[in-house]
Amino acid sequence: MNVDLVVVGAGFFGLTVAERCANELGLRVVVIDKRDHIGGNAYSSVEPETGIEVHRYGAHLFHTSNKVVWDYVNRFTSFTDYRHRVYTTHKGEVFPLPINLGTINQFFHSAYSPTEARALISEQAAEGELATVSNLEDKAVALIGRPLYEAFIRDYTAKQWQTDPRELPAEVISRLPVRYNYDNRYFSDTYEGLPVDGYTAWIERMADHPNIEVRLSTDFFDLDQEINIRDAVGTVPVVYTGPVDRYFDYSEGPLSWRTLDFEEEVIQTGDYQGTPVMNYADTDVAYTRIHEFKHFHPERDYPNDKTVIMREFSRFAEEADEPYYPVNTAADRERLLRYRERIAEQPNVIFGGRLGTYQYLDMHMAIGAALSTFENKLRPLFASGATN
Ligand code: FAD
Ligand code: NA
Repeated sequence: MNVDLVVVGAGFFGLTVAERCANELGLRVVVIDKRDHIGGNAYSSVEPETGIEVHRYGAHLFHTSNKVVWDYVNRFTSFTDYRHRVYTTHKGEVFPLPINLGTINQFFHSAYSPTEARALISEQAAEGELATVSNLEDKAVALIGRPLYEAFIRDYTAKQWQTDPRELPAEVISRLPVRYNYDNRYFSDTYEGLPVDGYTAWIERMADHPNIEVRLSTDFFDLDQEINIRDAVGTVPVVYTGPVDRYFDYSEGPLSWRTLDFEEEVIQTGDYQGTPVMNYADTDVAYTRIHEFKHFHPERDYPNDKTVIMREFSRFAEEADEPYYPVNTAADRERLLRYRERIAEQPNVIFGGRLGTYQYLDMHMAIGAALSTFENKLRPLFASGATN
């Protein structure tokens, strides 16, 4: 095969590596993806009836405080001045998120100052303190107290996992941020925005190089594929961004993931919910949230009599499901350590991205990690001429 590098996965990690290697080192790169589109989970496409851009794997908001990443992504797209905000519906009332002073004062029908609210929540949290924290509920109550936990966390978490929070491991949450002011900007990063002409245009520009060949609908593990990419392993370096447990045939046991189901609907109204994302905190509805995509781009000329909404449902992933969020139980972490030992025995394969490292990565983190992999591993590897 006339190629210097094989990249498995056309998501942000794989395409950043491919783009750097082609543009900086002049390497010939083949990128394969088993899906029929590039972009990994950041892929979006236009809903034909309305012309509205829909993020196919759930809403994707770009934000970063990393200047290197920001400068890099701005080579391929400019960004709007979109600022993400989220609301939640609880018992027929709408509250701002993340939990902030506005949420607290609305919930307790009060006018607490930041100091008063802080004192109240730490008192309620202290009441929830236990000698041993044995599940997610114990931990959450000890962090924010029982009233806020029961209103905003308990049922939402139960829906996310299809499991009672008392049966979920405590380590699923590390913290529950509460803001003691009225700031309800969801992200607090230096840079934030959405790609002006959409995610797919951005991603296509990354792959647009004569040395980069993208082969879609090509599974790394499909031995019947036309040109067996796996033959390249051992002859040229491989960057693998698929699931790490799959690479090793699940020899150390499967890693557990949460998956999402999406239900899309075109509705004949100009504005369905008045905001991009509405969470549903209670169990009276089965979905966790509704995305209304036109609100991500108020600057666009979208129809004013139609809208696209997407209801999101969440559950544990089974083998055939798309892996979305690592569950990361103690057993998972143990298995991951054993996979890392096996990775160390594969000098010709670089594992990267969210699936290859079993880590939730935002887009900016995947891109940042790929830029580091390029500088610290790939550039030295090819400079040393160690490959054929
Ligand atoms: P991916 O984008 O998952 O790409 C991996 C690719 O590898 C996939 O295209 C897959 O098909 C391919 N692949 C896997 N196995 C094989 C195989 N055997 N052969 C060939 N190809 C294979 N980030 C943000 O910054 N903001 C957000 O708001 C945000 N929202 C998110 C919402 C959801 C529901 C999810 C799941 C993620 C979200 N992210 C968000 C993160 C973002 O989507 C990506 O996780 C991030 O860009 C990491 O990219 P990646 O290249 O590592 O992985
Ligand atoms: Na998101």
